[in-house]
Amino acid sequence: MFHSKALLSLILISSAVVDASPLSRSTGKATLSFATRINESGTLNIVDKDRARAQAFKNAGHLGKRDGSISVTNAAMTYTAQVGVGNPATEYTLLIDTGSSNTWIGASKTYSQTSTSQDTGNTVSVSYGSGSFSGEEWTDTVTLGSGLVIEDQSIGVASSATGFAGVDGILGIGPVGLTADTVSNTDTVPTVTDNLLSQGTISEEVIGIYYAPASESSSTGELTFGGYDKSMITSSVRYTSLTTSSPASNYWGINQSISYGGTTIQSTTSGIVDTGTTLILIASDAFQQYQSATGGTLDDTTGLLTITSTQYSDLQSLSFNIGDTSYDLSPNAQIWPRSLNSAIGGSSGSIYLVVSDLGSSSGSGLDFIDGYTFLERYYSVFDATNGRVGFATTAYTDATIN
Ligand SMILES: *[C@@H]1O[C@H](CO)[C@@H](O)[C@H](O)[C@H]1NC(C)=O
Ligand SMILES: *[C@@H]1O[C@H](CO)[C@@H](O)[C@H](O)[C@H]1NC(C)=O
Repeated sequence: MFHSKALLSLILISSAVVDASPLSRSTGKATLSFATRINESGTLNIVDKDRARAQAFKNAGHLGKRDGSISVTNAAMTYTAQVGVGNPATEYTLLIDTGSSNTWIGASKTYSQTSTSQDTGNTVSVSYGSGSFSGEEWTDTVTLGSGLVIEDQSIGVASSATGFAGVDGILGIGPVGLTADTVSNTDTVPTVTDNLLSQGTISEEVIGIYYAPASESSSTGELTFGGYDKSMITSSVRYTSLTTSSPASNYWGINQSISYGGTTIQSTTSGIVDTGTTLILIASDAFQQYQSATGGTLDDTTGLLTITSTQYSDLQSLSFNIGDTSYDLSPNAQIWPRSLNSAIGGSSGSIYLVVSDLGSSSGSGLDFIDGYTFLERYYSVFDATNGRVGFATTAYTDATIN
């Protein structure tokens, strides 16, 4: 069963800014709030789940094909938003997925057609590893809350779907290439973000993501299309170019080095930033150094390193050096929220580290994943227009919340 941490709402923060010239296009930006949900059913080994996702990224990347097979259904932590389809709109609860790009409905609630609904006659089918859907392609008006409207958005309408209990489908915000070969008679399907850009609703293909930490009682994050939300950050956004190393370059790949307590445990290498990964995964050689420096021991149930309270008080900063900036994770940022130990099969008195073994040595072209546990400490900006990823500090960067 999913534990829904927060209710959903949508805020349109700025639909148009003042233009210097009356002829220039308005630069729109809109923010969609989402809820973070932890799958608490059964014993979860979040390390296994994250590692399987990492392996899928590598396999798909090496095949040179983005086939949408990265599993969102298997994630320990998922993000959902309310999305309207049709006019008048029916609201659907959709998983937000940066690892796939088709938007579809119909897993639970059936599609209510209105005058804006058009059947394209094409079939659509996407496999997510641990889940899949197939059905027909329609185009319809998609509304992200009350203000942000996308006309003629391609949507999948599922006639069959497996692995999507408790949600109606997916809002796919990954790169358009991931839609290749998913719809009959179609090369790639413009994503929600593509259409926001082509319809002039946003002026740059940029997404800003803010996660309130999972440990907070009301953990509502927000997704900003067309820019980032200045009110959520406490520093300027510093950018780094997307990496050229494959397979990381098929995703939101960057170069970074890693140090612990001032000692380098990973020299500069390529990896990815991924909202669908819960933990921080680093290459096995770097992980071994991290384990011996922290004194952590592997816990069989959770798959995580566990440390004693003495070892916790000795913990040093873990730093990700990206571009010319060092992003520090404090000792508190390196541990799983203790209030959520039971959600991952852990025991309440224990301390678990969120840094885990990627399962392969560095030099693979995808040597780390900066997942949710990093992104809840730093605001992230995914800028496809300029081929870069940016980060900024937030009120939670150094907070003691876990
Ligand atoms: C939650 O996790 C369980 C156990 O891993 C899995 O069987 C189930 O499909 C998951 N539920 C959802 C909705 O992803
Ligand atoms: C990233 O690292 C790779 C190999 O380590 C290097 O070839 C590349 O020039 C670096 N920079 C970018 C932007 O990819």
